[in-house]
Amino acid sequence: MEETLGTVTSHYARHGELTARILAALAAAGKDTNALELEDLTPLDQFHLRGHQATRELAEEAGLAPGQRLLDIGSGIGGPARMLAQDYGVAVTAVDLTEAFCRTAAELSALVPEAPAPAFVCADATRLPFPAGRFDVVWTQHAAMNIPDKPALYRECLRVCRPGGRFLVYDVVEGPAGDPYYPAPWASTPSGSFLVEAAELRRLVLAAGFRERAFRDLTAAAVAWNRERQTRMADTGTQPALGPHLLMGPEFPQMIANVGRGLEEGRLGLATGLFEKPD
Ligand SMILES: C[S@@+](CC[C@H](N)C(=O)[O-])C[C@H]1O[C@@H](n2cnc3c(N)ncnc32)[C@H](O)[C@@H]1O
Repeated sequence: MEETLGTVTSHYARHGELTARILAALAAAGKDTNALELEDLTPLDQFHLRGHQATRELAEEAGLAPGQRLLDIGSGIGGPARMLAQDYGVAVTAVDLTEAFCRTAAELSALVPEAPAPAFVCADATRLPFPAGRFDVVWTQHAAMNIPDKPALYRECLRVCRPGGRFLVYDVVEGPAGDPYYPAPWASTPSGSFLVEAAELRRLVLAAGFRERAFRDLTAAAVAWNRERQTRMADTGTQPALGPHLLMGPEFPQMIANVGRGLEEGRLGLATGLFEKPD
């Protein structure tokens, strides 16, 4: 268990001091780092398939309302958390296992002082440090693939959600065509990767005690998004200056190529579900 947590955090914390690197990249891209807006960070702080577009779609689907308390589990460097707080007026708590990501998340928020700042907490999603029923919405994008004990994960999601509250999942899943390729953005080797098929993800969430409102296969949308990105990179001959490679280092192009190949070959899929906790 502790070994798995260590494998996951050393995968994500692989690339040293993040905030300084991000600031240097922003400055090189012509941004005034003393007057940043959240939109300046968007190309690099939404670490999941389909980027900020996916976060916005999910927020609309979840029916977020101002003043709701939202918990983002596996929040990375905080892009979705910041966006949800600013654009939907929700009070966001963001929890992540990787200390370096939590630190950078808070440092990036401090660089945009006029935007509402989420509370960033470093903790394991299977042992959440929050009381029962604390949140109106529990939200997670692309974190479950690092978590082997999914019953514990979804049990904790249910516990901290208030009765009648919502649970939103957006995750990479296993496809029918065989093992994924590594390194992947979420794991350098299979030892840090715990994918399940979409049907199993849905079963696990329901088994925890949630009720389903919607469940969708988004694999086709992920394939289209990935092809578009590849075309753009082929046209310019390079990856964009601002992107998640700033977090993951020189192996990132290989990681992302492996995801593209996995999606094309049916080894990977993308699924989303909106659930609620019964009253
Ligand atoms: C691919 S990133 C996604 C980050 C963010 N959700 C986003 O979409 O930008 C996965 C994140 O999950 C976090 N994570 C993995 N296992 C976790 C656990 N057991 N508890 C909390 N966070 C975890 C990692 O540290 C990493 O920041």
